[in-house]
Amino acid sequence: MLSTLLLVGPLLMGQGTEGKKKELPPIEVVKIDHKGPVDFNKEIWPILEAKCAFCHSGNVKEGQYDLATPEALTKGGKRGVALVPGKPDESNLLTMSARTKKPFMPLKSEEPFTPNELALVRLWIEQGAKMPVEMRQKQKIVITAPPKLVQPIHGVAISTDKKTVFAAVANRIVEVDAKEGKILRALRDEALPSEKDPLKNLAHLSLVESMALSPDGGTLATGAFQEVVLWDTKTGKIKHRFKDFAERVVALAFSADGKLLATGGGAPTEEGEVRLFEVATGKETLKLKAPHSDTVFGLAFSPDGKILATGGADKFLRTWEIPSGKMLKAFEGHTHHVMDVSWKGDGKTLVSAGADQVLKVWSYENGEQIRTIPGHTKQITRVVFIGNKPEFLTCSGDQTARAWNVDNGGTVRNFPGGTDFLYALATSPDGTIVATGGEEGVLRIYNGTNGALIKGVPLK
Ligand code: HEC
Repeated sequence: MLSTLLLVGPLLMGQGTEGKKKELPPIEVVKIDHKGPVDFNKEIWPILEAKCAFCHSGNVKEGQYDLATPEALTKGGKRGVALVPGKPDESNLLTMSARTKKPFMPLKSEEPFTPNELALVRLWIEQGAKMPVEMRQKQKIVITAPPKLVQPIHGVAISTDKKTVFAAVANRIVEVDAKEGKILRALRDEALPSEKDPLKNLAHLSLVESMALSPDGGTLATGAFQEVVLWDTKTGKIKHRFKDFAERVVALAFSADGKLLATGGGAPTEEGEVRLFEVATGKETLKLKAPHSDTVFGLAFSPDGKILATGGADKFLRTWEIPSGKMLKAFEGHTHHVMDVSWKGDGKTLVSAGADQVLKVWSYENGEQIRTIPGHTKQITRVVFIGNKPEFLTCSGDQTARAWNVDNGGTVRNFPGGTDFLYALATSPDGTIVATGGEEGVLRIYNGTNGALIKGVPLK
C-alpha cells in the first residue's frame, strides 16, 4: 500500500517536477519603436486571437479566463485580476506570457509570444490597456477545436448487440470492439477536413459533451457547443443536425420508443435549455420556457414516455408532461447542482445524482425523498438504472464507478481502475456490459455482472 502511494505521488506531481528540470526561460525583453497609442483591435487582439483565444474564449475557458470581452479579459480567472492598466508587472496576462510568473502561458505545446509581441503588449498595458467599446459587438463567440492537451471522454454508449462501444473523446467519436478494445472506426462530419489517419477523423469541431444511443441502436446522438448531431450507426453518416443552442449541449436522452430526443444545456447562471426533437423527421416539437434558472445537466424520459425529468445547476429536479411541456413537479433537496437523473423501470422511482456528492431516491407519486445515499467523495456525474432491475450505476469525480441497490442504498459492485475524474457511463439493458470514460481519455469496458475490467482503451 505504502509503495503504491509513493509511486502515485511523483506521477501526480509529474508536471511540476518536469517544469523544474527544464524550465523555459523568460521571453527576451526587447525595446520596440512605436509611436503613439497602441491600437487594441489592430495590434493586440490579433496576437491574443492567434496565441491565446482558442484556450480562453467561446467553448473553452481554461482557468475560467475568458478573453472575449473587455470586462472578462481584465477580470481574469481563478487566479484573480489579469490586467491592471498601467501596471504590466502586476498583470497576469503579461507576466504569465513573459514567463516570469507561473503558470507560463501559453501551455508548452503552443506558440509563445515573440519578444516583439511581448514588448507591444507591455506598452499597451503601460498606456492604460485601452479597449474600444465596439470590441463587445465584434467578439462573437469563436467556436474552435479543443486544445490538444484536452482529451476527455464525455460520452459512452453500448451497441444493442453488445459487440461494440461508442465513445466521444475530445471532438472525435469512435466505435471500439467491446472484447478486444480495437478502434474500428471514427464517425466523421464531412464538413470538417479529413485526417490522414481515418480513425482520427473529427465528428464535431468543438468538444463532444454528451452522447446517447437510440434504444434500437440505429441512431447515435452527440451534443457539442451549440449543436447536436444524429448519426446513422449503420452508415456512419449524419442524419440530422440541430443548431442554435444557447451554449454547450451537455445532456441527451431518447424516449423508450426511440421517437423523441431531449436535449439539455444552457448558459451557466442564466437559463437552462431543454428542447425536444422528433428523431425520424428532425422536427423540433417542444422547447421548454426557462425550465431551470441555470444549466440543465441531466435528462431522462419516464419508461412510458409521458414524463421528462430534468436536473440542473439550480439544484432542482423537475418533471414535465410530454408532449405538452407543462411542468408537473419540482423536487428540492440537493444542496448543489443536480448532475443527472434516471427512472427506475417501474416508472415510480427516480434517482438523482448531485454535485453535493450524494444520490437521492425519490418517490414520484408523492414527491417525497425516500433516501439519500452518501458514499461518493466528489460530484456524481452520471446515474443510470440497469434495465428494469432495482439496481443503478453511478460514476463520479472521485474516479470511481459503482452499482447500487435502490431499495436499501447499498453498494452492489465496484468498477475499479479509474485514475481521474469520470464523466461518462453506459450499461447494456441487461447490465452485462458497462463502460466508463473521463478526463484521462481512457475508455474502460467492464463485465457488468462481476465488475471485472475487460479492457482499458486509451483514446487520447
Ligand atoms: C493550450 C491552452 C492555452 C493557451 C494557448 C493559453 N492558455 Fe492561458 N491558461 C491555460 C490553462 C490550462 C490555464 C489554467 C492554468 C492553471 O490555473 O494552472 C490558463 C490560465 C491563464 C491565466 C490565469 C487565469 C486565472 O486567473 O486563473 C492567464 C492570465 C492566461 N492563461 C493567459 C494566457 C495568455 C495571455 C495566453 C496567450 C499568450 C494564453 N493564456 C494561452 C491554457 C492556455
